[in-house]
Amino acid sequence: MSTNKQKLTIIGAGPGNPELITLKGAKALANADVILYDALVDKTLLEYAPKAEHIFVGKRKGNHALSQDLIHELILEKIRENKGVVRLKGGDPFVFGRGLEEMDFISKYGFETEYIPGISSSISVPGLQNIPVTHRGTSESFWVITGTTSEGYISEDLNLAAQSNATIVVLMGLGKLNEIVEIFASEGKDELPVAVIQNGSLPTEKVVVGQVFNIGDKVKEENIQAPAIIVLGGVVSLHPKFKADTVSYEPIYQTLNFD
Ligand SMILES: C[S@@+](CC[C@H](N)C(=O)[O-])C[C@H]1O[C@@H](n2cnc3c(N)ncnc32)[C@H](O)[C@@H]1O
Repeated sequence: MSTNKQKLTIIGAGPGNPELITLKGAKALANADVILYDALVDKTLLEYAPKAEHIFVGKRKGNHALSQDLIHELILEKIRENKGVVRLKGGDPFVFGRGLEEMDFISKYGFETEYIPGISSSISVPGLQNIPVTHRGTSESFWVITGTTSEGYISEDLNLAAQSNATIVVLMGLGKLNEIVEIFASEGKDELPVAVIQNGSLPTEKVVVGQVFNIGDKVKEENIQAPAIIVLGGVVSLHPKFKADTVSYEPIYQTLNFD
């Protein structure tokens, strides 16, 4: 008998490719009685748990299959039935994943919870395009910001981020790309390199590379769709496609000292 009864295990599935879940996450899946999974999770991961009950609770075309409150109630109900419940979430559950909310809700009823980290899309999706979020001589830090807060707005942190030299990674921002680039343009950064990456780590992955002043047009031309990540910063100039597109931004890697 498994030892996971009456417990919530919250697992990060990674950015999309099913091989990018952790070994610990895959083992916990195999031990689950019930799996509640989100839209960005590859369903082949459910094959780790063929006997478990699989329940889709994600978003379809902007609408949640279940509200967050109903997800909480469902987890509680299954735990009270003496089940081991897994919440399988895209990327890492604690990066815009509401992971702790679900754990807190269940803990309040005295049940055990466990967090198993996942590879966040915020770092890995740029990385899979050979865009490192930090790079010696180019970027000393990175910010991960939401383009859609719970009120539906771009995070105000973006105004501060645009003043920094950091790499800026925006999640859930594709629909607000024009507003986002305007913030950077108002800081005089029209030529800052920008990449927009759709479906990172999946066969449908697509990247568009440009600069603040032209990325909006390029994204339209290439018909980039969500889920997508926006990366702004000098590190994008390291992408092989960047050189061909640039107007006057000097690719930083040409001046790097690798000693
Ligand atoms: C609700 S957030 C969840 C982020 C997740 N917890 C993580 O750590 O990656 C969903 C957003 O993450 C980004 N995203 C997640 N997976 C992606 C992928 N494979 N390719 C591009 N963007 C992705 C998109 O911006 C999407 O709208």
